[in-house]
Amino acid sequence: MASQAKSDSATPRFDQFLSAIESRRDNWQRLHGLAQAWAALPADRKGSDRVDLISEAKQLLAQLETLEVYFAYPGLALIQRLREKLTASDTSGFADLARRIAKAVLGGTYRRDGSAWDADEESTEAKSRAPVYARGAAADRLYFEVLVVGSGSAADQERVRREIRQLRRNDDPFDYELVFAPSFEDAMLAALFNGDIQAVVIYEGFPFKSKLNFPYMADFLARQLTVDPQTTAPAAFGTALAAALNRARPELDVYLLTDQAPERLATSRDAKAIRRVFYDVEDLMELHLALLQGVGERYDTPYFDNLKEYARRPIGTFHALPVARGKSIFKSHWIRDMGEFYGVNLFMAESSATTGGLDSLLEPTGNIKVAQEKAARAFGADRAYFGTNGTSTSNKIVAQAVVRPGDICLADRNCHKSHHYGFVLAGAEVIYVEAFPLTEYSMYGAVPTTTIVKALNDLKAAGKLDRVRMLTLTNCTFDGHMYNVKKVMRECLAIKPDLIFLFDEAWFGFARFDPLHRRRTAMQAAKELRQELGGKARIRVYQTNSTHKSMSALRQGSMILVADDDFAEVLEPFEEAFFTHTSTSPNLQIIASLDIARRQMELEGYELTMRMTELALQIRREVNNHPLISKYFRVLTPAEMIPKEFRESGVDDYPPAVTWAKFVESLEDDEFALDPTRLTITCGAAGFDGTQFKNLLAGKYDVQLNKTSRNSVLIQTNINNTRSDVAHLVGVLARLAGDVDRKQNSASEGDREAFKSRVRDLIKDVPDLPNFSRFHDAFRSDPASKTPEGQMRDAFFMAYRAENCEHVKLSSPEIDKRLKEGPELVSANFVIPYPPGFPIMVPGQVIDLATITFMRKLDVKEIHGYHAPTGLKLLKPEALAARQKAGGRADRAAGVRVGVPAGVEVTTTRSKSPVKAKR
Ligand SMILES: Cc1ncc(COP(=O)(O)O)c(C=O)c1O
Repeated sequence: MASQAKSDSATPRFDQFLSAIESRRDNWQRLHGLAQAWAALPADRKGSDRVDLISEAKQLLAQLETLEVYFAYPGLALIQRLREKLTASDTSGFADLARRIAKAVLGGTYRRDGSAWDADEESTEAKSRAPVYARGAAADRLYFEVLVVGSGSAADQERVRREIRQLRRNDDPFDYELVFAPSFEDAMLAALFNGDIQAVVIYEGFPFKSKLNFPYMADFLARQLTVDPQTTAPAAFGTALAAALNRARPELDVYLLTDQAPERLATSRDAKAIRRVFYDVEDLMELHLALLQGVGERYDTPYFDNLKEYARRPIGTFHALPVARGKSIFKSHWIRDMGEFYGVNLFMAESSATTGGLDSLLEPTGNIKVAQEKAARAFGADRAYFGTNGTSTSNKIVAQAVVRPGDICLADRNCHKSHHYGFVLAGAEVIYVEAFPLTEYSMYGAVPTTTIVKALNDLKAAGKLDRVRMLTLTNCTFDGHMYNVKKVMRECLAIKPDLIFLFDEAWFGFARFDPLHRRRTAMQAAKELRQELGGKARIRVYQTNSTHKSMSALRQGSMILVADDDFAEVLEPFEEAFFTHTSTSPNLQIIASLDIARRQMELEGYELTMRMTELALQIRREVNNHPLISKYFRVLTPAEMIPKEFRESGVDDYPPAVTWAKFVESLEDDEFALDPTRLTITCGAAGFDGTQFKNLLAGKYDVQLNKTSRNSVLIQTNINNTRSDVAHLVGVLARLAGDVDRKQNSASEGDREAFKSRVRDLIKDVPDLPNFSRFHDAFRSDPASKTPEGQMRDAFFMAYRAENCEHVKLSSPEIDKRLKEGPELVSANFVIPYPPGFPIMVPGQVIDLATITFMRKLDVKEIHGYHAPTGLKLLKPEALAARQKAGGRADRAAGVRVGVPAGVEVTTTRSKSPVKAKR
């Protein structure tokens, strides 16, 4: 019993595996603190202080030992040395070694400093006893760890380690150390815990179960596995492990060493997740070189490398870009500070050339092409295109590439405005599918699958399925709603097997590298559905992501990812669209940063994204469990952000409030899940509206945040956040909550009432969010149709003619009169208030009472497309009537063709007869 209790206390809570990584660092820090305190105790003090310190240190060391088997540094030999010192009461030796290890773990110096690996700096005699290998790496050589899975003994492990070390050569680009895992479970735990692991070498023939006792983790792992350990033969564990590792961390290179017919295995389906199969250890040098090559391929940034090369060359430029090479700046009398501020490399790396090793973004044949191929592989796509003008442009490129005039597109109305403009450009007929509202917080959620399926079925019933082309959704939404992409696609493809999907993952590019989020990404769904559906449907998925929003790319760096079985059909229009929207002077630094962002994510994206998720969970815990902060500020939970019917698992919060197994189940199966890294913090209870609170945080406390709603703000964690950031934010919230509380406690009765009324106003008196009303019949190709599609393009361009437009003030009685008696109010343009940031009116939309009421209640400053002094811009009823009379073309009604040179004959989609343009 006693030993059971001991092992339980020493076993870290592996169900909380995200925080286990952070607590590892904390524990080393704590051990260091204890060791220093012990060393500082006067020698004659034998009291309980000393006993307590030693017993806590022993317990902590035991706990660390359990986890340290999954890390190469400090390694069991160093830990053994630490234990020896502790047992021998060598206080100063223990304090010294604990300090060195803690420093190396926390600062990551073991990666480049060989001396961090020395067991004992002061004693060469002790050094010779220690079975520790000094790494001796060149300080600038990059470091990673290789996981070796196999059931070899400790002596076997030492031998392999030694043999591998002997293969190191001075010109190796990287340096690596080995971590050993004796079982399937240990291998998975090591890969999940240790972000330094970049490659895995599997020796066939190892058991499934770990000898260590992790009851929580076993349950969690079971959910991740595609094999049943009870029924799978141990011989098949190798390929099963490769598949499981690939699912958890697809960037890892997996090598299998087998003594059974490697040729057959290399071509089998099971070996897909394996980079290379070796016949046992016939040639260790080959394996060593393969390991270096695998990481080298991810490290390689062809465009960036060439740009650096280019910057070093003495090149005289006679093209049109004076800042190139920086001479116009560094020789200037007046703008030298520009050079000092940005540094010389920025200008040395500037060019308008597309040759000389720089390639052309518009027609890539060299290193941009390779960089894009690498990005496609890293993000799990068939193809990747780099964009240098943000996802705003990437979205328009995709819309223009795949949508043909007259095609019907389904879209969430809350999607980013670039999609709406894309529909205008493409001449799409749009059906807006409504997201569920979160009226209480003045925001929308995401679009239920049933809504999308109903729209498709209605189109099918109307015989229009052949005209349906694309579904556009935002995943995840601004506020963090993540679709169950596979479910959406599966159900849509059952009705329309060639539907194209555009998932705007502007905020979600990082998700590929985090196993918790990845299952909710477009590219992962495409991959899994290709396997699941076989040839039953065409997989046609496009993803756009603002690489700059979640990875280390410069602003405007964006990518378009493609997994389209029929891409050949759209290749040419895609190129046209790309040419339409891409500058002929794309920014070289943005292209290079996209290349680098990919490198970073493939090599450390796992660790960084897991950390940002853990930090977000920490903020959630700290804020919601703090009695004073949570009185005024709260981070909304999945229960508050997603209606119950879309959370089939019943999960209403995050770990530790729910178990990890349950949480992963919710991520896997629920219709919607809430991205933990996007945190909506309510501030209405503190009497702040979102904008006020945002300004307060930015102006007074240096906290920059994302967006606001009437009574909340949105913050997000990112790959650059640290625990200090979390501490700062939580500290600021505590201070603000304290201020509000103190003020209220000492306020007069009247002031208290005023505060209550302000809070009530912010929380309860929220305007109903208006649904999309409908398109005016003048913009519907088939006004009698039951399906609501309409097009914005003609309405948009009609408004280019002043004679077609009128302005009516929002407060004017004319609005109320026309709402009651007509003629209908029809919007001439997009009206987009910030927040909420989606178009409340689109061109050609009939404006209804709900929209007017919402607009009148809006108290935000920024409303794009609306100027209060002039009022709403409407299309005149006469212009609309004339358009309808002329068979649906305003330009014809006005007697002038839009965009068609005089004398050119065109046929419209609606009228088969050629119409001569009159001018
Ligand atoms: C969902 C969504 N898509 C696209 C964009 C535009 O991205 P970018 O800023 O990269 O142009 C945004 C910007 O906020 C967005 O929220």
